[in-house]
Parts: sequence; C-alpha cells; structure tokens
Amino acid sequence: MTDTLALLKQRRSVPPQFLAAPGPEGAQLDELLAIAARVPDHGKLVPWRLVVFEGAAREQAAEVVARVFRERNPQASDDQVEFERKRLLHAPVVVAVISRAREHVKIPLWEQELSAGAVCMTMLIGAYAMGYAGSWLTNWFAFDREVLAAFGLAEDERIAGFIHLGTPTAPITDRDRPVMAEIVTRYGA
Ligand SMILES: Cc1cc2nc3c(=O)[nH]c(=O)nc-3n(C[C@H](O)[C@H](O)[C@H](O)COP(=O)(O)O)c2cc1C
Repeated sequence: MTDTLALLKQRRSVPPQFLAAPGPEGAQLDELLAIAARVPDHGKLVPWRLVVFEGAAREQAAEVVARVFRERNPQASDDQVEFERKRLLHAPVVVAVISRAREHVKIPLWEQELSAGAVCMTMLIGAYAMGYAGSWLTNWFAFDREVLAAFGLAEDERIAGFIHLGTPTAPITDRDRPVMAEIVTRYGA
C-alpha cells in the first residue's frame, strides 16, 4: 500500500522523446492491458477498446501519420514530415485507447467517455508500477478521420488517448501542480 501511495505521489509523465526500450511486451503487456480494462464502467458496456502499436507495425502507423501530414501540409519541409513520422516511433510501445461510447437508454455518453479516460490513467499507473514510464497524448492525428480510418477506427469511435510506454532515458523534472486550496472546498463551510 505504501508503495502505491509513493508511486501516486511521485508519478509524472515522460514525453515520448525520452522513452526508449524496453517497454512492456508479450505476457507483461497483456497483463498491463488487463489491468487497464479493470475500471469503473456504468452499465458494464465496455465502451472502449485497445489497439497496440508495437514492432514493425508501428512503422506502418508512423508512415500513415507522415503521409496524411504531408497531404494536409503540402508546403511542409522534409524535416517537419520526419518530425511527425517519429511521433509514434519514440516509445517502444504505444497503446491507443478507443472510446466507442454510443447512445444508450440509461447510461449517458459522458459517463462512457469518462470510463475510457479511466482506462488511460489506469494503464499509465500500471505501467509505472511495472517499472516503466509513459505519457497520455492525443496529438493532431487523434482527430484526423483519415488517420483514424487507417488505424481501423469506425466513424463513431474516438481516441481517448495514445499511451506511449517505455523506459526513461533522462531524469524527469516535475511540473507545477494545482494549489489544493484553490480547487478544494468543503460543502457547507
Ligand atoms: C486526453 C489528454 C490528451 C493529451 N494530449 C496531449 C498532447 O497531444 N500533447 C501534449 O503535449 N500533451 C498532451 N496531454 C498532456 C500530457 O499528458 C501532459 O504531459 C501531462 O498532463 C503531464 O502530467 P503528469 O506529469 O501529471 O502526467 C494530454 C493529456 C490528456 C489528459
């Protein structure tokens, strides 16, 4: 329990540029994905699914991002295109958490979408508990239907996050955290 608290108090994201191999793979990655799927889910709708980008397939995904970026930005330099291509290539493994929230008689869309966020955060925490680090990012291509179609998403599916996972290559500095007195009030006080 103490370890859990220490992890939660210290955890901070590591940008993909500072993530290298090893990352979770094989049975350990499967274990992490099962941990991530263990989240509150009103109505047990499982309104999300996961797509793993690893190995050679990651290069194909990166090529899709580069191609669509060039298409959208014909004036872009080769360096800029390379920069975009690398977005999915820094971390050894990237997991897309896909929201497949759908209108339901009882469960609001909002609650289904929140559940997808819980998957993202649980995956990140689980990865840190395994000794890895990571980042929860979207980036422009998370909102680009051509990229998403190439990644196998249906029209009514959305990216909750790309979870980039690996081992940090540099010390990580923290960022400013919320001033608790500014965000916490006590009802009735
Ligand atoms: C849904 C979501 C999408 C995000 N997308 C991006 C992004 O595209 N680019 C970026 O620089 N940060 C993005 N972030 C923020 C990073 O995760 C950020 O580095 C993080 O807030 C650092 O906080 P932490 O150290 O507490 O984990 C996103 C965060 C969330 C929750």
